[in-house]
Order: sequence, then C-alpha cells, then structure tokens
Amino acid sequence: MPDLYPLARKILFQMDAEKAHHLTLKGMNLAHKTGLLGFLTGASSESQNHPVEVMGLSFPNRVGLAAGLDKGGTAVDAFGQLGFAHIEVGTVTPRPQPGNEAPRLFRLIEHEAIINRMGFNNPGTTGLLENLEHSTRSSRPFQGILGINIGKNFDTPNENAIDDYVKAFEAVYNKADYVTANLSSPNTAGLRDLQSGEICSKLIEALQQKRSEMMAGEAGKQVPIVIKIAPDLDEAAIESLAKVFNESGVDGVITTNTTISRDSVESHPLGNEKGGLSGAPLTTLSTGVLETLRSSLNREIPIIGSGGVMTVQDAEEKLNAGASLVQVYTGLIYHGPALIRGIAKL
Ligand SMILES: Cc1cc2nc3c(=O)[nH]c(=O)nc-3n(C[C@H](O)[C@H](O)[C@H](O)COP(=O)(O)O)c2cc1C
Repeated sequence: MPDLYPLARKILFQMDAEKAHHLTLKGMNLAHKTGLLGFLTGASSESQNHPVEVMGLSFPNRVGLAAGLDKGGTAVDAFGQLGFAHIEVGTVTPRPQPGNEAPRLFRLIEHEAIINRMGFNNPGTTGLLENLEHSTRSSRPFQGILGINIGKNFDTPNENAIDDYVKAFEAVYNKADYVTANLSSPNTAGLRDLQSGEICSKLIEALQQKRSEMMAGEAGKQVPIVIKIAPDLDEAAIESLAKVFNESGVDGVITTNTTISRDSVESHPLGNEKGGLSGAPLTTLSTGVLETLRSSLNREIPIIGSGGVMTVQDAEEKLNAGASLVQVYTGLIYHGPALIRGIAKL
C-alpha cells in the first residue's frame, strides 16, 4: 500500500488550518469506525511490540501523541490505531471554555512549523469524560496508556490556580493512567509564572495530597503526576525546577511545550503571529532543555521528550539525551503516520 499521506496533506494544506484539523479528526473517526483506518494509513500491530516500563506503567512503545491535538478526547481510538502507545488528551480545564478568537492556528510550511494561540479551547472535565466514555464502547478501543493534561481556566486568577488544577485532577483521576499539569502554555496569561519554584512546589504538594485522598477512597490506584515545562527557561530556572522535582518526588516531567522565541522564523510573513511555535524550529532548543534538566534531575524521575520530533532521528536524539518516551504533534501534521510507525520501532 503506497503512503497516502502526502496526497492527504496536499489537500489539507489548502484549507484553513483549524478547519483542516476538525475535518481530519472527523475523517479519522469515520475511517476507524468503518475499519478502513488501518488500511488507509498502513498501521499494523507490529508497532505495539516494543514495550517499555515508565512511571510504573507499561507502554507498548516509546511514542505518544502530545497534548492539544485531541483536546476533547474525541478520537483516542483512531489515534491509537496509528501506532501511538500513549495518548495525552487535553489540556482540559475545570469549566469548558471557547479559547481565543480565530484565526489562532498558522502553518509556516517552509519551516515545518506551526504557531498556535488556541488558548485552551476545551469541553471542560465533564465534557472530556463524556467523550472518553463513548470511546469505551468502540469496537476497537485504545489499548495503550491514556494521559490527561490539565490546566486552569483563563479567568481564574493565578492566586487560585492551584484550586483549578486540584479540581481538574480530582475529576479525571479515575479515568487517567497519568495526569500532566501543564504549566507552560504561552496562550493563557500568567500560566508560565506557575513554573516558579515556590508555586510549582505548592502545586505538586496539593496534587499529591489530593491523590492520597483518592487512593484512600474508591479509586485505589496511584496515578502518576507529570509536570510539563516550557523551552524558554534559562539554565538557572531549569536547575531550580529540578531541585523542586527532586524534593517533591514528582513522577515525571515533559520537556517541552511550544516556544515564544521566533529566532529562526522572523523573516516568515506569519513569523510574528502571537502564540507558541512548534515543529522543526523547536527541536534543538527543546532537546537542550531536556539535556540540562536530565543532568540535575534524579535518575529515577523519567523525562518525556516533546518538541520538534519531525524525524525518527529527532526521536533518537531525545532518547539519547535521556528521555524515556517521546511525544509528537507537529511532526504528525507534516509527515503523517509513517513517522509514528518509524519511532515505534525504536
Ligand atoms: C495547535 C497546538 C495546540 C496545542 N495545545 C496544547 C495543549 O492544549 N496543552 C499542552 O500541554 N500542549 C499543547 N500543545 C503543545 C504540544 O503538546 C507540544 O508540546 C508542542 O507542540 C511541541 O511538540 P511538537 O513540536 O511535536 O509540536 C499544542 C501544540 C499545538 C501545535
């Protein structure tokens, strides 16, 4: 079967980026339901045969879907069929919210990059759980690891941010295999200030406290807590965060979210759109943050490498720099499911 993705990409890239996104999710769900998705994308069960143990969970291979592509958890089974061993849905906030005004998603094709300022458009924790419930009834349900990425509502002031994270954490706890607290989106004002050592430490403590309550109650299971950080942190900030992570005993860290830097895309007509930049221009910056963090983080705390994984080699470089798993978003848009199949074999 020839790779159909270059053709699909040609058609999708002629459409507005956000419309193409919604159409792709709908098309994938339809193809999944009718049993055609595996055939059309060349997916095979071979990609699930490279298991690795991370955070006490058994991942069928090392590649996952990064947060933000399936914010509402409407296409988990279909993404699973593409070969992803873990899928991170969200960011989800306690209350639903519409996100920023469109246009808010831009392709910088020459740079294999995206700029987005979506602003956590999401159905809220209740909406997400309803969507995931539909999934359970699918004829080919996702068998991998489900991460749920949480954030605060845009209108919750930072002094009450921890309450939002705890609320969202409690709401999704039973459904999640792990939960990521996203402290690094550039599109919610003040969110990245939560990366200061003191606040981050308080947040982790509050989530661990809630987890103890959940474990003592009906939930029984211990859900790993993961923190997702930005690539725009200097060495001192990364080291001070590593200290917080080591002392708090957080279960994992994702390096990194999108960047606010525009160094390599300044000359592009869309290069100065506000938001977070992802894809090829982020690879080196993001892997550098991973390396710096790895050198000061306790060995037993795993890192998940996200940011500019556009080729199998980029994924290998993140693993060599100390990541236990990698995640892909923009690489999937530019290179399609063949990239996921390639990384799944590592
Ligand atoms: C359109 C878009 C929306 C995103 N939304 C989220 C989000 O809601 N939460 C989050 O933690 N990261 C979000 N991200 C960041 C990705 O999860 C990922 O960390 C980042 O894009 C870097 O990886 P990439 O270069 O493979 O895209 C988003 C990225 C894009 C491009």
